[in-house]
Amino acid sequence: MSLLEIRGLKVSYGYVEALHGIDMDIEEGRVTALIGSNGAGKSTTIKAISGMIRHSGSITFSGKELPSSSNKVVKAGIIQIPEGRRVFAGLSVEENLKLGAYSLDGKTIKEDLERQYELFPRLRERSSQDAGTLSGGEQQMLVIARGLMAHPKILMLDEPSLGLAPIVVNEVFRIIESIKGAGTTVLLVEQNANTSLKISDYAYVLENGHIVKEGTGSSLLSDPAIAAAYLGKRE
Ligand SMILES: Nc1ncnc2c1ncn2[C@@H]1O[C@H](COP(=O)(O)OP(=O)(O)OP(=O)(O)O)[C@@H](O)[C@H]1O
Ligand SMILES: [Mg+2]
Repeated sequence: MSLLEIRGLKVSYGYVEALHGIDMDIEEGRVTALIGSNGAGKSTTIKAISGMIRHSGSITFSGKELPSSSNKVVKAGIIQIPEGRRVFAGLSVEENLKLGAYSLDGKTIKEDLERQYELFPRLRERSSQDAGTLSGGEQQMLVIARGLMAHPKILMLDEPSLGLAPIVVNEVFRIIESIKGAGTTVLLVEQNANTSLKISDYAYVLENGHIVKEGTGSSLLSDPAIAAAYLGKRE
């Protein structure tokens, strides 16, 4: 049994079906990637799991049907880092982190903050800085760290590398690897197929609301059709 099992997932916006019945398995302690171009349905998949939009089909978490309200999904330990790195500008880095806290107990919050500052030394240096003044890469790190403050069982990241300079992209992917190293299951949604396949254990390719291919990260990286369509290489 996989930690999260998605079967026949369909989502429609009005009369238009965006996901046409997809199947995915998210294995515990692994990084699973969902790659695909603009409009493929990647964010829709994450939003359906999060309970933000209505879906049909089944999603089970540790063998039980996942609740469909977003509050309950968060309580179950499935945390989403949405596209667009929304920090609370006007609040400090540390205040932003505290808003993600899992516990109300001061001691636990302190320990959790310390854990995030170890993973993201740059956030420690900027702990009292206004979050709105951080660079794009730093804001991305802050929203990931804020998600981790909630002790997620599954962390879902929606295009964390979008719009970041290559050196920062590498840093973000290195952080995702350490999140996995710490035992958290990751669902990584990305257009950056190359780097995400390198760090993922298993990956799915989504095109126009259908899963068209799946396999280990390394098998997809060496697949000529994937290389031609997603990795900027010709067959
Ligand atoms: N709120 C909405 N109302 C109507 N159609 C929508 C809505 N949100 C998404 N769609 C449509 O659903 C399809 C999938 O969109 P989705 O945002 O899931 O794609 P994506 O793979 O995340 O793309 P991107 O890489 O650009 O973020 C697209 O055709 C999109 O236009
Ligand atoms: Mg998207």
